[in-house]
Amino acid sequence: MAAFLFSWSIATTPLAKQSQFVLHEKRNNRLLVSCDQNQTDSKISIENSDEKIERRNLLLGMGGLYGASNLLSVSPAFATPIAAPDFAKCSRGTNLNTGQPLDVNCCPPLSTEIIDYKLPPVTKMRFRPAAHLATEEYIAKFEKAVELMKSLPADDPRNFMQQANVHCAYCNLTYEQVGDSDLRIQIHNCWHFFPWHRWYLYFYERILGKLIGDHTFGLPFWNWDNPEGMVIPAMFSNSSSPLYNSRRNVNHLPPATADLAYSGKDAKHPSKIIPHNLTLMYREMIRHARHLEDFYGAKYSTGSKPNPGPGTVERGSHTAMHSWVGEATRTGEDMGNFYSSGRDTLFFGHHANVDRLWTVWQDLRGSKSKHFTDTDWLNTNFLFYDENAQLVRVKVADTLDNIKMGYDFQKVDIPWQKNKPKARVKKSKVASTSGAPSADSVFPVKLDKVVKVLVPRPKKSRSKKDKENEEELLTIEGIEVDTAEFVKFDVFVNDEDDDPYVLDKAEYAGCFSQLPHKNSSRVNTKIRLGLTELLEDLDCEDDEYILVTLVPKAGGEEITIGGIKIIYVS
Ligand code: C2O
Repeated sequence: MAAFLFSWSIATTPLAKQSQFVLHEKRNNRLLVSCDQNQTDSKISIENSDEKIERRNLLLGMGGLYGASNLLSVSPAFATPIAAPDFAKCSRGTNLNTGQPLDVNCCPPLSTEIIDYKLPPVTKMRFRPAAHLATEEYIAKFEKAVELMKSLPADDPRNFMQQANVHCAYCNLTYEQVGDSDLRIQIHNCWHFFPWHRWYLYFYERILGKLIGDHTFGLPFWNWDNPEGMVIPAMFSNSSSPLYNSRRNVNHLPPATADLAYSGKDAKHPSKIIPHNLTLMYREMIRHARHLEDFYGAKYSTGSKPNPGPGTVERGSHTAMHSWVGEATRTGEDMGNFYSSGRDTLFFGHHANVDRLWTVWQDLRGSKSKHFTDTDWLNTNFLFYDENAQLVRVKVADTLDNIKMGYDFQKVDIPWQKNKPKARVKKSKVASTSGAPSADSVFPVKLDKVVKVLVPRPKKSRSKKDKENEEELLTIEGIEVDTAEFVKFDVFVNDEDDDPYVLDKAEYAGCFSQLPHKNSSRVNTKIRLGLTELLEDLDCEDDEYILVTLVPKAGGEEITIGGIKIIYVS
């Protein structure tokens, strides 16, 4: 509580704007912070009545803490975006449940010089082709580039394994948050998912291009949201190619159809994989992605615990494709586990499609806002090695437009735009006749079985205008999972049909899923599912309750759900 007051008092003190904070002393539970603004000297002191001010809360509102001195340099004032990690403090990481060090070390080489990266002027666009449409000539170039990348010295930061480790390091809790050594950096399951991966691919692509002397080289995208592309592209499955990886699920090699709803087991209704995939894409890109947070993921800044909540694409099709490709083992190497996924070249084809979907989503938005304006997002920094092996500091604000970054995608059909799922049972009052218990009497609950609950709707019979102004959202909070496990559950609304393996119906509201990590820790996260259009489709907008069914699909014994409720967000 004291810590909260502390942040609040700084943030609302006008004199504190544009200032530099100096942490003077912490003595007898009394903390003195002076705040100098030009010559103005105002002092803020806070009694710490709770015995202990957590450092992380203290630093909220202060920006990063650099170096060992107690000088806190704040620019811009009070911003708390995630700062670029200090590579020198990279640690192998620990299994947070057992306290044992991890058996993988993905820390990068060190460098003494860091340059603030400026997007170079675009003279010629790089072209990213759809992998299934790529020419022989293109494939030969890509193979050559990857081969050269693999033969760079092992300690060259552009080497193939070093590049794979870049992903591992940013997801395996190996970097401390600058400003809070108690917390780690995790770029998944939060609003950094799209921008961080865009930077990662950006440099990967430039390194490959440089190795073959082609400054227009672009990565191929695996067009898995299009029936034509719903199979591992041929270039990645030729066992004599440098693009090949042997650690993949042998049952999913061509001609197997990619299952965007994959939950660790093969589809119960194989003939429905394609219709499922298309309605799934519609949900992730349109129905459930009306609000920025729902598409991008939840806010994560200095002082935040990792995994505040993934966006629709991240937790859905993206995660499914990782685990569908990786080996059919608990840990799912290479693609099905965060630490190893960058070791499969297909990762880059996969993520080039995720990156393309970001652009497609922005295009479909028309005049609606396409990105956050929160400086805690825009000013976030990451470090990467560029194509010249120079360590550079990049910012999220530079990722908003792929054209400005100098690359574009081959134009392909977007077949799922009209695949609005249809209602199975279109009738009101399903909930009231269901006999299910009310949500507050059930949570928290372990998902080792199917859970059905009634959730009250604070507002019903909303007008068209109300619905335009406010989206009705189902929030599922306090989702606790072990990060070492692959977990997945599906959410259905008013589903009397009760076949949880039929997903191309309006009653299916979406999923939560998580890829395993090398480290193991308990995280607490949340998801939000858009209900406005779904309730229209089910003809139950006048109902007081909805019936929500949670169906564990993988690792249910590992999942606990804290609570579920309906909120309205404008
Ligand atoms: Cu960084 Cu697809 O994961």
